[in-house]
Amino acid sequence: MSHIAVIAGARPNFMKVAPFLRECKKQGLPARLVHTGQHYDKNMSDVFFRDLEIDEPDAHLEVGSGSHAVQTAQVMMKFEDYCLAQKPAWTLVVGDVNSTVACSLVAAKLGIKVCHLEAGLRSRDWSMPEEVNRVVTDRLSDLLLTPSRDGDENLLAEGVAPEKIHFVGNIMIDSLYHALPASRESIIHEQLGIEPGNYVLMTLHRPSNVDGEASLTRLNEIIHEIASQAQVVLPLHPRTRKNMESFGVLSKLEELSNCILTEPAGYIDFLALSSRSKFVMTDSGGLQEETTALGIPCLTLRENTERPITITEGTNRLVGTSKEKILSAAYEVLGGNLPQKKCPEFWDGKAAERCVEIFQRERAL
Ligand code: UD1
Repeated sequence: MSHIAVIAGARPNFMKVAPFLRECKKQGLPARLVHTGQHYDKNMSDVFFRDLEIDEPDAHLEVGSGSHAVQTAQVMMKFEDYCLAQKPAWTLVVGDVNSTVACSLVAAKLGIKVCHLEAGLRSRDWSMPEEVNRVVTDRLSDLLLTPSRDGDENLLAEGVAPEKIHFVGNIMIDSLYHALPASRESIIHEQLGIEPGNYVLMTLHRPSNVDGEASLTRLNEIIHEIASQAQVVLPLHPRTRKNMESFGVLSKLEELSNCILTEPAGYIDFLALSSRSKFVMTDSGGLQEETTALGIPCLTLRENTERPITITEGTNRLVGTSKEKILSAAYEVLGGNLPQKKCPEFWDGKAAERCVEIFQRERAL
């Protein structure tokens, strides 16, 4: 049957597909969820289905981990089988992970239309696998739905036809507003023994920060310094835990009494942690946006961002990767120097409605 195959593969995809699927159901648009299995641990995948109220996937490709080529190729082979058997009219991909580019490529070659939700973001850092995925996916897409106006500008500058581009706003913020009431009921603060409003929340998983011994050692020193001033909470991504273990950094952090290392948190518990933190330190893309919507200060431990609107309009600050710069920014925020908040246009919880309206207009399934 003609339908939209909605692709989700990795943790940051689940909060983007949930509002779209909910709205499709409401408006009677035929959508089926395909989980590629790029992320497969309970706390990287299953808990998000529960927290975001996503139904069981209609298909599970179970690709698991591997090098970029292996993972991308596995998704392509299995998604091609899905397409040949199920004949979707459209493939909708979100974000910038390997599953995003893999499914777009398969669909484009089979003549199935591709829609990229969260199109147009650019870090202009070609060493990031996500930047390669973004650019290639956008090039393959028939319909490009952007989260902010800078996305439209980037796409137009790259020669994308204006009629393919639609500014819909940030769909991840739909999930955030939907889950905020439930996050206020979370007992994560009691479970971790921390006081709301009185800790620094950190997340780190980018290869550039967590794959090398030198960068992990520097991060260890930074965390020790910050923990001497404030309680630190650090949910560990599997990649980060594995590398910290192999470079002997994990045991040093475990000894630190003012630093709580936890498993990756579910969506609702994590929202409870981020929305009631003093500030956030991260290298995640999504968290730069969530903190802007929440009005929580965010220090981004990267040299660039594909989400500049979180700096120009939100609460985000790029602090790079040098120890001195990171610490001086952290001390400033601890000292009460807080950025002014302004939520960007169309980060209003209604992005999914706009996406589905566009689909209703664009195609006859
Ligand atoms: C991926 C995305 C990144 C996104 C991140 C969020 C790409 C290129 N990268 O990076 O954009 O910000 O997800 O988490 O798609 N692992 C587990 N359990 C899991 C998933 C992964 O143990 O459920 C391990 C893998 O075995 C691997 C490591 O974590 O060793 C990295 O996983 P992978 O999906 O390859 O990339 P991420 O670093 O998570």
